[in-house]
Amino acid sequence: MIVLKKVKLLLLLLFQLVIFALFFHTYIHSVGSLSRKEEPKHMHVLVLSSWRSGSSFVGQIFGQHPDVFYLMEPAWHVWMSFTDSTAQRLHMAVRDLIRSVFLCDMSVFDAYMQPGPRRQSSLFQWGDSRALCSPPACNIFPRDKIIPQAHCKILCNQQPFEVVEEACHSYSHVVLKEVRLFNLRSLYPLLTDPSLNLHIVHLVRDPRAVFCSRERTQGELMIDSRIVLGQSWHKLKKEDQPYHVMQVICQSQLEIYKAIQSLPEALQQRYLLMRYEDLVRAPLTQTSRMYEYVRLKFLPHLQTWVHNITRGKGMGQHAFHTNARNALNVSQAWRWTLPFGKVSRLQKICGDAMNLLGYRHVSSEQEQRNLSLDLLSTWTLFKQNHQTG
Ligand SMILES: *[C@@H]1O[C@H](CO)[C@@H](O)[C@H](O)[C@H]1NC(C)=O
Ligand SMILES: *[C@@H]1O[C@H](CO)[C@@H](O)[C@H](O)[C@H]1NC(C)=O
Ligand SMILES: *[C@@H]1O[C@H](CO)[C@@H](O)[C@H](O)[C@H]1NC(C)=O
Repeated sequence: MIVLKKVKLLLLLLFQLVIFALFFHTYIHSVGSLSRKEEPKHMHVLVLSSWRSGSSFVGQIFGQHPDVFYLMEPAWHVWMSFTDSTAQRLHMAVRDLIRSVFLCDMSVFDAYMQPGPRRQSSLFQWGDSRALCSPPACNIFPRDKIIPQAHCKILCNQQPFEVVEEACHSYSHVVLKEVRLFNLRSLYPLLTDPSLNLHIVHLVRDPRAVFCSRERTQGELMIDSRIVLGQSWHKLKKEDQPYHVMQVICQSQLEIYKAIQSLPEALQQRYLLMRYEDLVRAPLTQTSRMYEYVRLKFLPHLQTWVHNITRGKGMGQHAFHTNARNALNVSQAWRWTLPFGKVSRLQKICGDAMNLLGYRHVSSEQEQRNLSLDLLSTWTLFKQNHQTG
């Protein structure tokens, strides 16, 4: 009996000790986060874009920077876990996932990955993240060099999943690229969240070029397109589906624009609109603009690299690759590959978004094929907002 009592007492003592430790831990933690709030040294950047709009390229521009922890499309895991769902229904799950990842809490992936042991290579397109190819995630490549994805994928694919979180904590900037968000409303709470310092880079591209590029990668985009269209997918003729997807994409660009207009002045400063075509025409200038916006230094090796990849040769074939290529030429490919009929239909569907973003319509096949006609209009809308702001 006495022994039992002693054991009970001991257990009670142990229990109290655990409670105390928990309390102490929480206390330390909240003190820690309070002091972090006073000096928000972390920068959280969301590259908000759509498929085939040059977002892998922009993602690389951020991801190769030695101060940046970058992940490409973490919401892929959400979408691929609920392939019968709709973009609308998955918005909040995507939002919450993004918030957790910004705060380097990678436990959020538990909900979207197979149970059991996982590696950092369980993350979608992990090799695109230079941070996951260099210390502390992987000791093979140095942090401050350009790391080719192909090399990293071979040499760093055995790292445990835990290194992702460790790596994330070791950077001043966390940058996420997402193509699976269609409005800003779900992001409002993140813009005002005191634990985040969220900046949005909204990357858009001429819908005709997006459409053209999507045609070449239809297979890879099929599951996503079905989620974008939701229930209406089944009701649509197969040949109409790509146009309806484009309609959703263009509509979302308009909505994001409107949402920004209605934000308080201070929050409007957290938004940068980037046209892919402007980036392609002046890669160094526009990269510099993006870096400045999120307070990153445009280091010399990055300048050479940006110059190299935008003046290289070849057309990237795979949907998820940014190879060296003549980006300027690629950005105009739709002008000689799309039939005018399709262009005309797209201009009807996406006309409002095109007008807003400064993409001129063509009124004939002759105009479409005539490359001396510049279809990009100088664009004052957002510049006004941002320069007076
Ligand atoms: C840029 O290209 C030159 C010539 O091909 C090459 O020597 C150099 O290593 C490249 N630099 C970067 C940073 O990619
Ligand atoms: C662009 O690419 C097309 C097709 O590959 C080619 O016919 C054309 O000559 C290229 N133009 C330039 C300026 O490189
Ligand atoms: C192409 O556009 C330019 C600039 O507007 C014009 O001067 C030229 O005549 C056009 N060429 C053809 C073949 O339409």
